[in-house]
Amino acid sequence: MALILVLLLFFSPLVAQSVHPVTGRPIAGVMSAAGSGWLERPERESEEQPDKALEAIGIRRGMVVADVGAGVGYMSFKMARLVGAPGKVYANDVQPEMLEKLRARAQRDKITNVETVLGTFDDPKLPAGKIDLILLVDVYHEFSQPQAMLQRMREALKPDGRLVLLEYRKEDPTVPIRPEHKMAVSEVKAEVEPEGYQLDQVIEVLPRQHIIIFRPRKS
Ligand SMILES: C[S@@+](CC[C@H](N)C(=O)[O-])C[C@H]1O[C@@H](n2cnc3c(N)ncnc32)[C@H](O)[C@@H]1O
Repeated sequence: MALILVLLLFFSPLVAQSVHPVTGRPIAGVMSAAGSGWLERPERESEEQPDKALEAIGIRRGMVVADVGAGVGYMSFKMARLVGAPGKVYANDVQPEMLEKLRARAQRDKITNVETVLGTFDDPKLPAGKIDLILLVDVYHEFSQPQAMLQRMREALKPDGRLVLLEYRKEDPTVPIRPEHKMAVSEVKAEVEPEGYQLDQVIEVLPRQHIIIFRPRKS
């Protein structure tokens, strides 16, 4: 119930402005920076089990990863620890306020392998061909221009890189999230594959979310 209230408070003014041209899915509004405290709520650890997610995905020392739609960096800092000093995390978002908070935490905790990148709604502004893995946690359903974002992210990935989406399971009516903030695997596949990707793996080890992994399609 608390979760639904927070979603109503922080997401509803911008909810469902348009639909995806392929699936007709209503696109969710962007979470405002005023609601960023919700991203670091203590119960998130049990609801989302983020460490288990990163272990299942396989984040390794030395990897170059991007957290697109990083918010205040909840996942970026976990990945920074896993990739270590030889690795790097690009923490991207479209809201400067989110990235300011992320940088403040990096400075406070002396974390040096996280670089913030202010993107636009159609371009994450990542370096071309350099990224091993792009992570989107509770983000893809908010993209107002999902096709352009997917194309630019594909350009940023190495040829053997991976694009990983974590999304609340729409197939499960007991997951307590508004419908436009959930996604079905079939819907994700129908939207992502035409933009130059191939579905590689779906991992179902989390309490509420799918882990959906794509590889760039070889042309
Ligand atoms: C629900 S929050 C999730 C934040 C973070 N991934 C986490 O798990 O804590 C969604 C974030 O996606 C960002 N976002 C929405 N559209 C975006 C876009 N086109 N490019 C980059 N970030 C975007 C929002 O600004 C917001 O910070």
